[in-house]
Amino acid sequence: MTPTIAVLLIVTFLVSVVGLLALIWSIATNQFGHGKEAAKTIFPPGEEGHGEDPARDISDTLDGNLPPNSEAINARQRADFSSRGPVLAWLCSAVFWLVVGSFYGLISSTKMHMPEFLANSEWLTFGRVRPMHLNAVTYGWASMAGIGVALFLLPRLFRTALVGARFAITGSVIWNVGLVLGLIAINLGLSDGEEWLEFPWQIDILFVIGGALCAVPLVLTAANRKVEHLYVTSWYFMAALVWFPFLFLIANLPFTFPGASGATVNWWFAHNVLGLWVTPIGIGTAYYLIPKILGRPIISYQLSLLGFWSLALFYSQVGIHHLVGGPIPTWLVTLSIVHSVMMSIPVITVAINHHGTMWGHFGRLKDSPTLRFVWIGALMYTVSSLQGSMEALRSVNVITHFTHYTVAHAHLGMYAFLSFILFGAVYFIMPRLMDWEWPWRRMISVHFWLVSVGILIYFVSLTIGGWKEGVALLDADMPFMDIVRMTLPYLEARTIGGALMTLGHLVFAVHFIAMLRRSGERRYQPTLFRSAKQEASQ
Ligand code: HEM
Ligand code: HEM
Repeated sequence: MTPTIAVLLIVTFLVSVVGLLALIWSIATNQFGHGKEAAKTIFPPGEEGHGEDPARDISDTLDGNLPPNSEAINARQRADFSSRGPVLAWLCSAVFWLVVGSFYGLISSTKMHMPEFLANSEWLTFGRVRPMHLNAVTYGWASMAGIGVALFLLPRLFRTALVGARFAITGSVIWNVGLVLGLIAINLGLSDGEEWLEFPWQIDILFVIGGALCAVPLVLTAANRKVEHLYVTSWYFMAALVWFPFLFLIANLPFTFPGASGATVNWWFAHNVLGLWVTPIGIGTAYYLIPKILGRPIISYQLSLLGFWSLALFYSQVGIHHLVGGPIPTWLVTLSIVHSVMMSIPVITVAINHHGTMWGHFGRLKDSPTLRFVWIGALMYTVSSLQGSMEALRSVNVITHFTHYTVAHAHLGMYAFLSFILFGAVYFIMPRLMDWEWPWRRMISVHFWLVSVGILIYFVSLTIGGWKEGVALLDADMPFMDIVRMTLPYLEARTIGGALMTLGHLVFAVHFIAMLRRSGERRYQPTLFRSAKQEASQ
């Protein structure tokens, strides 16, 4: 047995024991025993049946059971304000990196069909700009927005103020320094040379410190919580916050995993960043926001817990489906394919809950920006994951691997699923932090349509182009350059889609800044897609 496998087995064993202890604790404290009542824990008494979108003007959202200044609502407002500083620090950074990362994506995309574009600068070669895009959107946008959302929602879920906010603010500063240094390093051509792990390991230490500083207030707040039952969102968030540091630390250990075992650890990490980090944050956020905005609990609470535990069981082993056909043991690949298919269990349970809760209430998508972004994101989680389970099969992967099809799937997951849910969460959170409504309804609309049409063009063009490319690559008689030429129109279409998305991000960023400055007039009603006049006339 090589030292690498020994280390992996020991770590897997230890993590499994921790997971088992958590499962035993949850059974012992009857976390599974709660049914409908547990699903209602996110509603203070009297609030069920009334949407919280957004909560600033709470007086008309509640029935007679609960006066607007009730202790439960006051406690929620205290929880919201307690996390204001850290949440703003993480969200502002996230929006900044979203814009920066999108431009790197756009440059990479343009270079793929116009290689002479910015060809004279070694700083802007594809091999540098592409990883800068990936790292800026993953560790800048997705991770920082995700942490911001968790910092906002967990005190609400625990019904207590955030303890130790200063740690999380310092953590965001250190994380940002890490990002700046990491991107400069890649730009200079200094990289660890593995996808998703490009930042030099010395710089990775900053992410470990920044992340750990952010975990301190969350652990302290959890210890201080005023609720006995942990709502399913808390399970997803707390688990992601435990899993990610383990993954990041192990995968970045220098000089430990040489050769093919390095590739194995690389992809074990890369899909776990998706499955055990950003996915739980996305699903957990939707589990909170969909019922909250509709004012109705999720339809099956026990199913939601089954989804959580089956995700923990199956997702941790799927990474090796990235190495189908690679020089690693066949059993390892087969295990990951089996787990990839078994992932349909958590995916279907989540789908039943997210879409079943929406059933009969789809009309709300016409007015609520948060609900529209979050539900479309949840739908795309179902679609991208079922697509992923198919893509892991050897017979499909032999066509799609090494093609643009994979990149289409990647953006369906990271963008249409995760980023949409994060957009929706930002629309929900900011009015509560700033005590101000979003200034311009039309900007939310423009943002929505630009990014929706953009990702549609992106996904459709690369899916078709990538599939044709894969089929052609299997044809030994087809000259390689003919295949490259055949993909050009699809790559050009991707640049158009990506340009619309980037424009949408600029609109979002401008509106976000306007919100920080409390621009526009003070309003006491939520900023919805349709004006009150339009709603009244229907
Ligand atoms: C059941 C769930 C899923 C399964 C089984 C799955 C499976 C796969 C497979 C087989 C690949 C292609 C590997 C290759 O040929 O190289 C892939 C790539 C990818 N998937 Fe998924 N996927 C799932 C869900 C998701 C979700 C929810 C996201 C986003 C949050 C996501 C993001 C990605 C990304 C970013 C890549 C490209 C990675 C790279 O090459 O850098 N996937 N996935
Ligand atoms: C928040 C927004 C975005 C996220 C989260 C995101 C995420 C990702 C991910 C995970 C990958 C790796 C995919 C893989 O290796 O299979 C990737 C690659 C890429 N993305 Fe994005 N992306 C975003 C926006 C954009 C935009 C606006 C564009 C503009 C066209 C773009 C263009 C690209 C390109 C060209 C690649 C490299 C593909 C390749 O190597 O073949 N992305 N992005």
